[in-house]
Amino acid sequence: MLVLGIETSCDETGVALYRRGEGLLAHSLYSQIPLHAEYGGVVPELASRDHLRRLLPLLRQALEAAGVAGTDVGGVAYTAGPGLIGALLVGASLGRALAWTWGVPAVAVHHMEGHLLAPLLEASPPDFPFVALLVSGGHTQLVQVEGVGRYRLLGETLDDAAGEAFDKTAKLLGLPYPGGPALARLAERGDPQRYRFPRPMTDRPGLDFSFSGLKTFALNTWQASDHSEQARCDIARAFQDAVVDTLAIKCRRALEQTGLKRLVVAGGVGANRALRERLRELAEARGGAVYYPRPEFCTDNGAMIAFAGCLRLAAGQQEAAQIEARARWPLEELGPVEGAAC
Ligand code: KG4
Ligand code: ZN
Repeated sequence: MLVLGIETSCDETGVALYRRGEGLLAHSLYSQIPLHAEYGGVVPELASRDHLRRLLPLLRQALEAAGVAGTDVGGVAYTAGPGLIGALLVGASLGRALAWTWGVPAVAVHHMEGHLLAPLLEASPPDFPFVALLVSGGHTQLVQVEGVGRYRLLGETLDDAAGEAFDKTAKLLGLPYPGGPALARLAERGDPQRYRFPRPMTDRPGLDFSFSGLKTFALNTWQASDHSEQARCDIARAFQDAVVDTLAIKCRRALEQTGLKRLVVAGGVGANRALRERLRELAEARGGAVYYPRPEFCTDNGAMIAFAGCLRLAAGQQEAAQIEARARWPLEELGPVEGAAC
């Protein structure tokens, strides 16, 4: 079965074609970052309109790259949540309409399930069960993954997501949106001894996170500094060290608590080099391993949606012929998919 995947939950338009048993045939992506940069953040209405403009050209591009026709598609998978409702509705409408036209099943995909299964697209995928750390611009969650659709939330952020904290801190240091990757580059030139930021919520039991205090800490440190380029780098370094340390401490706790050895890291912040290195050391020290998607599949993309959708379509799941999307959608509401393989 050839599956078309469509991702439009936030500021990236992604389209991909995945063939069951064969793998990814093509994927195309358009990032709206330049569109939103001048506003310092994602403007939902602009995001929806741009998804509308980009989707069909991207679809055409992916079909050409894969050397297939639309009528070869045997199932459509689209991100139905969580995310920006207007943006989600663009992908859901097109996905549902194409499935209707082609007379094939369509399946609604949970964006975070897409992220957490993305490492399964790689050459050495992790076996179940594993612990997944989902760190994106909108989410920070630790999930115990027993199988496809069998998710137990172990902990999550009580305020800002890790990526959001990166972006807000970058903004107050004068970096353009989204500042996460730029802040990480500054941190490489920072002196790790100059400032020490707190490791929020690590001195008490539990697996929840809180990152909003770090942003305030960064602001106060910046205001008390000499505003030099070096101070900017040193604050970036202290901030990144605090986030990486905090995430690593909670990951270690999650592995201890569940008795699992495999750790999967997905979502945009999973592209952070310092975090990847730190979690690799952590998992290896425990006799386990850490699994990442390739960097381009850490951030939003259509490939992860096509793949997650393929697993559900292969198990016979499909949506009624109506267009629905959910801004909020708890991961634990998903049903298990037994014995599915793509
Ligand atoms: O998963 P994603 O593309 O979108 C959401 O679903 O939110 O994640 C985007 C987030 C942004 O906050 C971005 O700043 C952050 O991931 N990010 C990074 C890095 N690359 C992307 N944060 C820190 N270091 C990076 N290298
Ligand atoms: Zn995402």
